[in-house]
Amino acid sequence: MPGFSLGRHRIDPPLLLAPMAGITDRPFRRICRRFGIGMTVTEMIASRAVEQGRERTERMAELDADEHPAAIQIAGAEPRFVMDAARWAVAHGADMVDINMGCPVKKVCKQVAGSALLRDELAVARILRAVVQAVDVPVTLKIRTGWDEKSKNVARIARIAEEEGIRMLTVHGRTRSQMFHGHANWEDIGLAKQAVSIPVIGNGDVVDAASALDLLRLSGCDGVMVGRAVQGNPWVLAEISAVLQGQPQPPPPTRQQRWRIVEEHMQALHAHHGERRASQMIRKHVAWYSKGLPASAEFRAAFNRIHEWSQQMAAARQYFVGID
Ligand SMILES: Cc1cc2nc3c(=O)[nH]c(=O)nc-3n(C[C@H](O)[C@H](O)[C@H](O)COP(=O)(O)O)c2cc1C
Repeated sequence: MPGFSLGRHRIDPPLLLAPMAGITDRPFRRICRRFGIGMTVTEMIASRAVEQGRERTERMAELDADEHPAAIQIAGAEPRFVMDAARWAVAHGADMVDINMGCPVKKVCKQVAGSALLRDELAVARILRAVVQAVDVPVTLKIRTGWDEKSKNVARIARIAEEEGIRMLTVHGRTRSQMFHGHANWEDIGLAKQAVSIPVIGNGDVVDAASALDLLRLSGCDGVMVGRAVQGNPWVLAEISAVLQGQPQPPPPTRQQRWRIVEEHMQALHAHHGERRASQMIRKHVAWYSKGLPASAEFRAAFNRIHEWSQQMAAARQYFVGID
């Protein structure tokens, strides 16, 4: 599967790591990158948060020196603030600015941002136009297929995006009202692909190489974005990357390799977020890494009772090195 150009960057293989708030931070993106993705996208950064200039927001926009091409994702409903956020993203090294109009979270929708915007096509056009004019890097957009089953407007939004100068569109094949229920509709993603000539990336429920190929076949998309399947399982990206490049699939990591990844992830979380936050965040990651492994439920129950960082490291080491 050939990649595609986005500004001066080549997205090859056309495999993207999905932005996931609280998960795809700089430490985890670094781990995912080595498994052969074409580009990364940061977690969503609200334009209001940019305006408030919090230290935490700054950290969310930090990119590794070798993390390119990378998009910083922003969201917001007020063109003026979204423009400022876009300029701020470029100043932080973004190769592209990605606008999120796919977030179904109530808090975001209440401010008529995220996927709520999909109901107001004029507002979509206004925001996209403002951001495209504000920055001189490619602006990309991430959407769902519409607000609900009765008001799917994915093809119209795709056309608006192209007209306003958006250079790549990612479509999560669910409506807002579906939240994360049911299965993503990959044919619906194809409606966007048929409507425009910019690259369209399909997203939703890709869990392995076979499902990535199915999504591409059913939607006709130019690439695929993978989210939840990488939780505790970032090496799945190597499998998908290989199949997109017509190469044999790599074997899953050995026990030792898996522990190295977990250990590196834990240490990087500590360095990036500080001990207190890392200590909380590691619980969900360790739970995902241990999913399906022997006696993992007992391990998780015990792990969740530990609060002290060095003890968490020791318990994780004992479990991941010790299992067959
Ligand atoms: C915990 C979580 C956080 C997410 N945060 C974001 C986000 O910040 N920006 C965004 O555009 N999408 C976000 N998403 C949506 C994902 O990028 C993706 O569209 C969705 O999970 C479907 O893909 P998947 O089935 O491969 O997970 C999030 C999803 C999850 C599960």
